[in-house]
Amino acid sequence: MVKPCLQVELAGVKLENPLMNASGILGLTSYSLARLAEAGLGALVTKSVGLKPRPGSPNPTVVEVPGGLVNSMGLPNPGLEAFKSEVEEALSKIGKPLFVSVFGFSPGEYGEAVRKLSRLPVAGFELNVSCPHVGGVGEIGGSPEALREAVKGARASTGKPLFVKLSPNLTSFAEAARVAEEAGADGIVATNTVRSMVIDLEAERPLLAGVYGGLSGAALKPVAIRCVYEAYETVKIPVVGCGGIFTWRDAVEYFMAGASAVQVGTAIAYRGLEVFRDILSGLSAYLEAKGLDDLSRLVGVAHKR
Ligand code: SIN
Repeated sequence: MVKPCLQVELAGVKLENPLMNASGILGLTSYSLARLAEAGLGALVTKSVGLKPRPGSPNPTVVEVPGGLVNSMGLPNPGLEAFKSEVEEALSKIGKPLFVSVFGFSPGEYGEAVRKLSRLPVAGFELNVSCPHVGGVGEIGGSPEALREAVKGARASTGKPLFVKLSPNLTSFAEAARVAEEAGADGIVATNTVRSMVIDLEAERPLLAGVYGGLSGAALKPVAIRCVYEAYETVKIPVVGCGGIFTWRDAVEYFMAGASAVQVGTAIAYRGLEVFRDILSGLSAYLEAKGLDDLSRLVGVAHKR
């Protein structure tokens, strides 16, 4: 049998394979984006940038817990004006579709950020409306009205694909996905991290300087898979899975739940950039063993009940 086809098309953007990095991991400099590109990903996502520079939270910002990491980075970024030159330099090196992730503290900031970046020859944008520990950002994805306004504003600012990264902390993930689709989103990313907290026993107070954090890694996977499954049943736009993907088996679970592509984050910290080639070769071997010629045949199969 010929090698199975791993190519995917996301909102008109062609990816040579379905693997992306999760925003926040190695995506803030042209150097780190180039390193990611060399690791064999189909597309890349930058760390989230906002209108103004932010230093991020003081240390400690990350703590390991059973099943994952809790981070409270505080959205550190140089601000989008300074970030533009990093993106331009990255684009000259990477030769892969690049999505810029943007966040805002009000719905109007999303349209403004996307407009200010719209001349860059990037593939599209990911709207981070779901950071669970920087006050004001997750609240946008948590309110249907604010979410609608943010996505509509961004939609009015660009004709390029817009993906909306939603939170697993919502009462109804499916409803938020529906609102985003109606407002003009081209895809849903499921999901950002789970709002969480760790207590320092010696200090008798929250361990992270930012107090709240976001749980990523293996513990997030069943939650995010559920979100992918619900979104797939609700919207027609593609769903990109994100949360606790370490192996090809994890990725296959996401495809079966309805993801068209997947993002890998925490696994890079544990397994290095080789994780991408390992997942790709495992995926190829799995499809071949199953006699499937194209990855698309897996997408959503878990919905046949
Ligand atoms: C951060 O930089 O604080 C993480 C971003 C996020 O959780 O969306």
